[in-house]
Amino acid sequence: MKEIKIESTLTVFDDFNELPKNIASLMEQAMEAREKAYAPYSKFLVGAAIALENGEVVTGSNQENASYPSGLCAERTAIYYAGAKYPGVKMITMAITAGSTLHQTMTPIPPCGACRQAIAEYEVKQNEDIEIYFMGETGKVAKSHSLANLLPLVFDKSAL
Ligand code: THU
Repeated sequence: MKEIKIESTLTVFDDFNELPKNIASLMEQAMEAREKAYAPYSKFLVGAAIALENGEVVTGSNQENASYPSGLCAERTAIYYAGAKYPGVKMITMAITAGSTLHQTMTPIPPCGACRQAIAEYEVKQNEDIEIYFMGETGKVAKSHSLANLLPLVFDKSAL
């Protein structure tokens, strides 16, 4: 019998202004996407922007539905759009920003488990890390060097 310890490491930037220029620009595009969220039920607006290897940026926001489970998170809206529009083009970085219209969100909001699983699919497929930056509306920004770092013990095609 043995114990296995699994660790994740995050880099935390004190605020948006500490980000490298290209990441700040990607996060701004995520913020623009957040403004376009359709979230009349939760009032929680999320935006995601993905920088691709070919220089394109694909964005998405959460899209809710009166039949709640039919809605989709911002990260999956963006990543499925990227996968559909630019199949085979590697994804380098994803920036995520989230905030409620009911109160200020000043802490980094990580992608939900379902979105981590969806992003993991593409990271495994392209065999190259996808960097993930996430924040609230303002305040600290967290960076994960890969999706795998956010989803230890990932379920992927190697299990099938
Ligand atoms: N949401 C996202 O867009 N991304 C996440 O990672 C977590 C949650 C959305 C789904 C729903 O529209 C709202 O936020 C509240 O859960």
